[in-house]
Formats: sequence, structure tokens, C-alpha cells
Amino acid sequence: MSDGNRLQGKSAVITGAGQGIGRAIALAFAGQGAALCLVDANPHRLPEVAEAAQALGVEVLTQQADVTQPEQVEHALQAAQERLGVPHILVNNAGIFQSVKFLDYGLDDWRRMLEVNVTGTFNCAQAALRRMVPEGRGKVINMASVAGKTAAPASSAYNTSKHAVIGLTRCLALEMARHGIQVNAICPGMVDTDLFDGLLVEVGANRGFTEPEALRKAMLKGVPLGRMISPQEVAQLAVYLASPDSDAMTGQALTLSGGHLMV
Ligand SMILES: NC(=O)c1ccc[n+]([C@@H]2O[C@H](COP(=O)([O-])OP(=O)(O)OC[C@H]3O[C@@H](n4cnc5c(N)ncnc54)[C@H](O)[C@@H]3O)[C@@H](O)[C@H]2O)c1
Repeated sequence: MSDGNRLQGKSAVITGAGQGIGRAIALAFAGQGAALCLVDANPHRLPEVAEAAQALGVEVLTQQADVTQPEQVEHALQAAQERLGVPHILVNNAGIFQSVKFLDYGLDDWRRMLEVNVTGTFNCAQAALRRMVPEGRGKVINMASVAGKTAAPASSAYNTSKHAVIGLTRCLALEMARHGIQVNAICPGMVDTDLFDGLLVEVGANRGFTEPEALRKAMLKGVPLGRMISPQEVAQLAVYLASPDSDAMTGQALTLSGGHLMV
């Protein structure tokens, strides 16, 4: 059974829902009563997430879609609409990370990063907003990062992509305000997921750390709370941004980083 009703009667599309932060958001939304359309390019982990969400008493649909492919995104949104109605909430969470020194960056890798993290957000937002605008309501939550507000070595494409997600969030917030739609971003710091484990290995190699855990320790020294963020903590902020509690908030990029970044 669900443990709350803050999203009762709402439906949400969540991208990158198969694991990590997306999975946690799916379960937190289900716990608040939202019907779900779970989207991921990798279909293998979606059934487990769907089952766990259904056990909380909500309707769940899964869709395999690569957010970089507009026709796949459109198909997923159409399926969600037919089964659950026009979505009330879109969470643009799907994303990738790669650490490469700037002078070594290949154009294909650079393009792939922007394609998934930025164009993927554009594709899903457009498909969802074309449906939400006639309804005169909706919430879009974009997963940015502290990387969208800072610089980091060997991370030019990722940081650029997350700066762009914040820029897109603000522009959409401005255009969508008169349609009763709020658009906000979450900027997490270090979140315990597979993506972060991969980051430790790649960034570690680029910064001369032979042990990924040594890099984690070094990075945590810059976090006043001295610990990682859990995916569930990010999900609780997403619940707030998806719920009527945040109706007065739009165009914001909210940092959740244990004090690592204070803007
Ligand atoms: N983990 C962190 O420390 C951290 C910090 C800040 C921001 N973020 C952001 O949060 C989001 C989720 O990160 P995570 O740590 O849960 O990552 P993750 O790698 O654990 O999960 C990402 C999910 O997105 C899916 N995905 C990737 N490319 C896709 C595509 N083209 N189309 C559809 N699905 C795709 C993957 O299959 C996977 O299920 C990302 O946007 C990431 O940049 C993560």
C-alpha cells in the first residue's frame, strides 16, 4: 500500500527509471499514489521496478525508449496517454556520464553526451508539453547536477550538458508559466548509484587515483555533511516538485549536495 497521497490522481512519466535515481523516484511517486509510465533505453531492469511500484497499489506501464530518438519518445508518451491519460508530471532523469580530458575528447563522444543529456531532455519535454499545454497544467522536473553550476577537470561535456539542462529548465519555465505548468531542476551532488561508481573509476584514472574509493574519500572531504546522498533523498525532493506543494516554484535549479555547493 502507498504511504501517502501527495500525488494521488496524478500520472507521471519517468525516464531512466530502471535503476539509480530514476528507480527511487518511481518508488517514491508510487508511494504517494501516482500512476507511472517507466521509460528506459535498457528494458531489462524495468519489470522489477514496475513490480515494486505495483506492490504499492498504483497502475504502472513500462516503455523501452531511447530518449535521443524522438519517435521512440513519442511512442512512449502516446502509450502513457492512452493508458493513464495526459501525464501530469514528467521527470527527465535519463543521463550518462563520461570523464575525458578536453584535448582527448572525440567528436562522437562529445555529441553523444549532449544528445542524451540535453537533446533527450528536449525530446521528452516537447512530447510531454505538447500534451500538457492544452490541459493547462503540468510539472516538469529535469535532473541536472551540481556539475551544471560548477567546473571540473576532464568533465567538459558532462558539465556543459548539465549547464544546458539548467538553461533549458529556465527557458521552459518562462514559456510554460502562462499555461499553468511549472518546470524545475534538481542538482544533486554525490549520489550513491552505478553512474557514480563509474565516475569514481573514470575520474580517478584521469586524476591519478588508482583506487576509486580513495577518490570518493577525497571528494567527500569537500562535502560539509561528509556523506553521499541516497537516491531516496533525491526522490523526496522530486516528490515535492511534483506535488501541489511546489505550485509557486518555477525555473529553479535546486541543489541537493550535503552542502558541497551552497548555491
Ligand atoms: N549519481 C550521481 O551522483 C548524480 C549526481 C548528479 C546528477 N545525476 C544525474 O541523475 C540522473 C540519473 O543518474 P543515476 O546516477 O541514477 O544514473 P544510472 O546510470 O544509475 O541510471 C541511469 C538510467 O538512465 C538510463 N539511460 C541512459 N541513457 C538513456 C537513454 N538514451 N534513453 C533512455 N534511458 C537512458 C540507463 O539505462 C539507466 O537506467 C542522470 O541524469 C545523472 O546525470 C547523478
